[in-house]
Amino acid sequence: MNVSSPSLPSNPLSIENSTQQAIGVFDSGVGGLTAVRKLVNMLPNERVIYFGDTARVPYGNKTAATVSAYSQECVHFLIQRQIKLVIIACNTASALALEDIQRISPVPVVGVIEPAAEAALAETRSGRIGIIGTRATVQSGAYQSAIKHLCTQKGIDREIVVFAEACPLFVPFAEEGWHYHPATRLVAEEYLAPLKKAQIDTLILGCTHYPMLTDVIQDVLPNVSLINSGEEAVSVADAILHEQSIHAMQRGMNRIVECYVTDKSTAFMSVAERFLGFPLGMAEEVRFGK
Ligand code: DGL
Repeated sequence: MNVSSPSLPSNPLSIENSTQQAIGVFDSGVGGLTAVRKLVNMLPNERVIYFGDTARVPYGNKTAATVSAYSQECVHFLIQRQIKLVIIACNTASALALEDIQRISPVPVVGVIEPAAEAALAETRSGRIGIIGTRATVQSGAYQSAIKHLCTQKGIDREIVVFAEACPLFVPFAEEGWHYHPATRLVAEEYLAPLKKAQIDTLILGCTHYPMLTDVIQDVLPNVSLINSGEEAVSVADAILHEQSIHAMQRGMNRIVECYVTDKSTAFMSVAERFLGFPLGMAEEVRFGK
């Protein structure tokens, strides 16, 4: 499928058909499928259109300008498919491009940062919160700002201390299916040592690939509560759908998950189905025009 960049539809959402419209989910690659897994379990009537920018992944080592330009292009594709809400199931895009995406979107946009920050604040007892993510997410300071903002907004006056570590090698380990490989364990011990030393009691999995490595992360940090950023975003999306009365009341005739990617490698379907937890059925390759 070749896609140019025509202008946005002026009003893609009408009250009459909005309940039947799909939820758009975007990620730089396959990671966002961990959020789709939750979405399908929690809201089985909803139709999902997933977009993974597999040709340009990883976003985690790119500049904010590049991540924003790529993200807007991908979300634009989803908006053209008459979605009723979009979930940015990518921490890097949420950290670096959420406002830009909100500016171009006529439908509600849910990122992962604020929902995960809010869940971590609700969970922590000691006030010592860890964050792991891509280099770009950690360097952006987006989680730190969200936590600070939420503390002010909610009048939380106890001390909250945040410790952040970039874990870039977790992404290829998750895709390789090395969920509990000795090499993954070794890398996890190295990355998570400063967080163990900091005695955090809550850890935000600030990358949608990381839930695939939950067991090894939990083994290295046994008494720490893990916050799944994609799942928290899905809960916020659910609340918005209900608030706006646009949730699907019954399952439609269409396929539940329609998947589009910018590069469909031979390994894509098997990796994607591992992240999703059930057969994907279809994935179509999309090429953006110049
Ligand atoms: N899934 C992306 C995220 O949540 C990480 C992969 C990437 O670097 O693009 O940040």
